[in-house]
Amino acid sequence: MSRLDSFIRRLTAQKQLLETVADRISGLDGCVLELGLGNGRTYSHLREILPERDIYVFDRDLACHPSCIPDSEHMIFGEIRETLAFCGPRIKTKAAFIHADLGSGDQTTDLATSSWLSPLINKHLAADGYVLSGLPLQLDGFNEFPMPDGIRPGRYYIYQKVSVEKAVNESLEDDSAAGGSEGRRVGADLGGAMDRADARRSWG
Ligand SMILES: C[S@@+](CC[C@H](N)C(=O)[O-])C[C@H]1O[C@@H](n2cnc3c(N)ncnc32)[C@H](O)[C@@H]1O
Repeated sequence: MSRLDSFIRRLTAQKQLLETVADRISGLDGCVLELGLGNGRTYSHLREILPERDIYVFDRDLACHPSCIPDSEHMIFGEIRETLAFCGPRIKTKAAFIHADLGSGDQTTDLATSSWLSPLINKHLAADGYVLSGLPLQLDGFNEFPMPDGIRPGRYYIYQKVSVEKAVNESLEDDSAAGGSEGRRVGADLGGAMDRADARRSWG
């Protein structure tokens, strides 16, 4: 596959998944966290599909298209490891949706990012909220959803934080209900997930 085709596929998948999660949070209160502004493409799309939501954007740089610069209240500058840990007073509510586009392409850096990012995501995500991530995360007890047809597994990851109420209900049902009909309950096999993601990326 040409690099152009691969690029088009990646962006098409990203758009489809952002829209899927936006639909899924329709009944859920909370803000949206965009981790990694970059040139602002996904932020611009989130603003369009979730116009009523507060979207807080995190990046260490400002390198986006001028039309995508968030206002000062919603732009949080600095290292995400620090800013996400201390943004509570600014964002006030838990997030219904966290989009994390922080992959570097370097396995060691990505493993380190996933390791510090996972607990911070857990801290800021509302019960039943969703995470769409380019990196596998270590989110014990969350549901992980399979990719829709046409999107290669290992390219993106969708997780949902399971509310206590839902977990109790599931534990009262039979084993086949664990993880629900759509998702699979995940544990902590980050190294394995990263290796599988790397292997898939090397296919093109
Ligand atoms: C792949 S780009 C995001 C692209 C964006 N989603 C888009 O559609 O344009 C990743 C961005 O995350 C930022 N970033 C990566 N790791 C970071 C960190 N640890 N702290 C702050 N910013 C980080 C980079 O500066 C970069 O702008």
